[in-house]
Amino acid sequence: MLLHVENVLTPDQVAHAREALAAQAWVDGRVTAGEQSALAKRNLQVPEDAPAARELGEMILTALGRNPQFVSAALPLRVFPPLFNRYDEGMAFDTHVDNAIRFAGPVRFRTDLSATLFLTDPGDYDGGELIVEDAYGEHAIKLAAGDMILYPATSLHRVAPITRGSRWAAFFWAQSMVRADAQRSLLYDLDNAIQAMSVKVGQGDPAVVSLTGTYNNLLRMWADV
Ligand code: NI
Repeated sequence: MLLHVENVLTPDQVAHAREALAAQAWVDGRVTAGEQSALAKRNLQVPEDAPAARELGEMILTALGRNPQFVSAALPLRVFPPLFNRYDEGMAFDTHVDNAIRFAGPVRFRTDLSATLFLTDPGDYDGGELIVEDAYGEHAIKLAAGDMILYPATSLHRVAPITRGSRWAAFFWAQSMVRADAQRSLLYDLDNAIQAMSVKVGQGDPAVVSLTGTYNNLLRMWADV
């Protein structure tokens, strides 16, 4: 499932993030790349341990925790502290897959979902689309500042070369309670249907209660916590 989550950050939060990032010492993005993807990667990043990266990362994690669409779609068990990258003119990230396992300090976790949270207005740069491949072909993604795309970390993906301006973003991975993308998608669809139905007939309606039970039983069967 490829999911566009709107307004993860408010315009004020985006402005705050951009101001803090503008003051950072950006380094070669290959510091967090695996051996294979290092060959494909040409961008800049804020060092993981920079205080500003931590503070902005916390702001994003708090926003995500309050975002019902993210919680329902990702069913997050652990979210990797967000990192920040930047592609200036001529920079790109060729086709690659993300590592299956990552370390956040001593904590090891599986990357089920990848996320990119856009921090630059799309009118301020050309190129720079995130291109994700799935069974239906290629999807070129370029979102408003403050919006996020969530996609299975198993997908081949790339960032198209920037031909004008500079594209800033936060990116991170999440380990989900539900490992398989197809199962997460089904739970997300079911949750949306239950929410829509309870608006029409009320939360206490027997059909809503029954479907909520089914949702919970599927989650019990599939969750790995
Ligand atoms: Ni990647």
